[in-house]
Amino acid sequence: MSPDAGPTAVPGDPGDPGDPAPPEPILTLARSARRVTVLTGAGMSAESGVATFRDPLTGLWARFDPTDLATPQAWRADPGLVNAWYLWRVALVRRAQPHAGHQALAVWAARPGVDLRLVTQNVDDLHERAGSVVLAHLHGSLFAWRCDHCERPVPPPDPPTDAGERQRIDPTPCEHCRDGRRRPGVVWFGEPLPRTAFDDAVRACLEAELVLVVGTSGLVHPAASLPRLAAESGVPVVEIDPHPTALAATADHIWRAPAGTALPALVEALGPIESADLPR
Ligand code: APR
Repeated sequence: MSPDAGPTAVPGDPGDPGDPAPPEPILTLARSARRVTVLTGAGMSAESGVATFRDPLTGLWARFDPTDLATPQAWRADPGLVNAWYLWRVALVRRAQPHAGHQALAVWAARPGVDLRLVTQNVDDLHERAGSVVLAHLHGSLFAWRCDHCERPVPPPDPPTDAGERQRIDPTPCEHCRDGRRRPGVVWFGEPLPRTAFDDAVRACLEAELVLVVGTSGLVHPAASLPRLAAESGVPVVEIDPHPTALAATADHIWRAPAGTALPALVEALGPIESADLPR
């Protein structure tokens, strides 16, 4: 936590999406920061129609707990069930569109003089489809499948047209070793994060002049430790989330608003690009 600021709930009633205007302390930090690190979680994709992990899932999957499906044990016990769930999510993300919040981050990153580094826990590709470069997918990607035996990358399977209704879809064999099956390239509970991704994320947080956390409950480590790491190094931490999270005590400033409203308003309020910032 920055020494000069205790956690300040934004003006107005926290939890009230209320006034879309960026709170002044947050806008001041965003305007002055050249090195900005943005950490996003499932809430960043919520307004694109992609369910978060701790909000109720929809349809067929409403009676499953995602954390029961995202484990190596589940894959070993019932690969058809886990494979069907991930293929449902692949189909869901392919139908989804990035929202204005995704686009705002891409616009901010393109501002002259700004070094914006984007770290996400999300396995979708909505940031990329909005034009962002993602420094680190801490929990892997729905679109980076690999063999569960030889570990070699394989093309993501095409979900069947009825992926949303089928509770089991047998995984397809690996075309390289023939002994393994194609599994989603995501990090399951109990699996290590990609080393490079996490190291890059740590560096991005420590080198930042502002860390902006958007749409994560802050419950799953080690990703959840990144904001505190920044705060303990004196980097201002700002949280954007419509609901209270485990990160509230770490954030210097909190904006209780949805990403799709807050981020466009914040980037809009950064103001016109100064001629001095334009590349010569
Ligand atoms: N804008 C911003 N935040 C939102 C929005 C929104 N429109 N809607 C919901 N949120 C917030 C919720 O209030 C919550 O704090 O997004 C957060 C989602 O929390 P989780 O569902 O726990 O998702 P996340 O924090 O990303 O989960 C971390 O857990 O299950 C594993 O690997 C999975 O990457 C995931 C990790």
